[in-house]
Amino acid sequence: MEIKTVGVVGCGLMGHGIAQIAAQGGHKVIVAEAEQGALDKGLGRIERSLAKLAKKLVEKGKKSAEDAEAEAKASFERVSGTLDRSELADCDLIVEAIVENLDVKKALFAELGAIAKDSCVFASNTSSFPVAEMAAASGRPSRFVGLHFFNPVQLMRLVEVVRTDETDEEVFAAAKAFGAACGKTPVACKDTPGFVVNRLLVPYMVQALEMLDRGDASKEDIDNAMQLGCGHPMGPITLTDYVGLDTTLFILQGWKERYPNEPAFGVPAILERYVAEGKLGRKVGEGFYSWDGDKKA
Ligand code: CAA
Ligand code: NAD
Repeated sequence: MEIKTVGVVGCGLMGHGIAQIAAQGGHKVIVAEAEQGALDKGLGRIERSLAKLAKKLVEKGKKSAEDAEAEAKASFERVSGTLDRSELADCDLIVEAIVENLDVKKALFAELGAIAKDSCVFASNTSSFPVAEMAAASGRPSRFVGLHFFNPVQLMRLVEVVRTDETDEEVFAAAKAFGAACGKTPVACKDTPGFVVNRLLVPYMVQALEMLDRGDASKEDIDNAMQLGCGHPMGPITLTDYVGLDTTLFILQGWKERYPNEPAFGVPAILERYVAEGKLGRKVGEGFYSWDGDKKA
C-alpha cells in the first residue's frame, strides 16, 4: 500500500505542521480548512517554517543555500489548500487535526467516509479520544488508525501510531511507514486514553496548574524548577501555553466525563477560568504568559 497523496483536515497548530512534514517527506498534500483566514494563516506558517529550517541547514553547513532553498520551495509547492473537502476524494491517507471534540470529529469522519476513495486510510491526531469511536463513525473501521504527532510537529521526533481491535495489519504498517517517511520515530500504542505520552504528561500538567492555583510557587519558579531540576526542555506552565489552554481543557473534560473516578484526570479550576477569559495560550498571544509571536513577551 503506497501513500502518495495526503489530505490534512485542519490547518491550525498541529495541522499546518503535519501538512509540512508530509510535504517534506515527498508527499503531495491537500489541506482542508473550515475558514479561509485559518487556511491562509496555516499556509503562511508552513512557508516561514520551511524557510527557517532551510536557513538552519545552511548555517550548520549541511546544505548549500541554493539546495536548501530549492528543497524548501519544492516542499511548499507540494502543498495546496482548500475549503472544499470533496477535493480529498483521491487521497491515499487523510489525517484529521481539527478541534478536540469527539462529536465534531465523528461527524467529519462520517462525511469523509462518503467522500474518500475506498482504499483511503483515515487517521486522527486526537490527543485523548477513543480512536475506535471515530473509526466506527467513518464506516471503514479496518482502515483507521490514530496518528498522534507532537507540538511543534516540525521539531518533535515522535509519532504514536494507534491501533484499534479492528485496524487491518497492512493499514497499521502503512501508517507507521508514513510516520517514518515524515522523519518521525513511530511507536505502537493501544487505543487507551492519552495513549503513552498524554497519559503521563497531562496529569503532570494538571498537578503543576493546581500548584500554581494554590500559590505554592510562581509560574516562573515552577517552570524553572522542572527545567533545571529535571532537565525538561520547558516547564509545565509554558508547555500548557504551547499546547493551548482550550485543547488541554477539552482533553481533561472528555476524560472526566468518561472516567469520573480516575483521580489523575481532574479539571483544574484555573484552566477553566483562563479559557473563559479567552486566554488560550501562545497561539492567541496570551495564556499563563504573554507572547509576542513565538517568544515570551
Ligand atoms: N519550524 C521551524 N523552526 C522552528 C519551529 C518550527 N515550527 N519552532 C521553533 N523553531 C526554531 C526556533 O525558532 C529556534 O530557532 P533559533 O535558534 O533560530 O531561534 C529553534 O527552532 C529552537 O527553538 P527554541 O529556541 O524555542 O529552542 P528550544 O531548544 O527550546 O526548542 C522545543 C524548542 C523543541 C519546542 C523545546 O522547547 C521542546 O522540546 N519543548 C517541549 C515540547 C513538548 O513537550 N511537546 C509536546 C507537547 S504535548 C503534545 O504535543 C501532545 C498533545 O496531544 C497535547
Ligand atoms: P487548533 O485550534 O490550533 O486548530 C484546529 C483547526 O481546525 C482550526 O484552524 C479550525 O479552523 C479547524 N477546523 C475545525 N473544524 C474543522 C472542520 N470541520 N474542517 C476543517 N477544519 C476545521 O487546534 P490544534 O492544537 O491544532 O489541535 C488539533 C488536534 O490535534 C486536536 O485533536 C488536538 O487535541 C490534537 N493535538 C494537539 C496538540 C497540541 O499541542 N495543541 C498536540 C497533539 C495533538
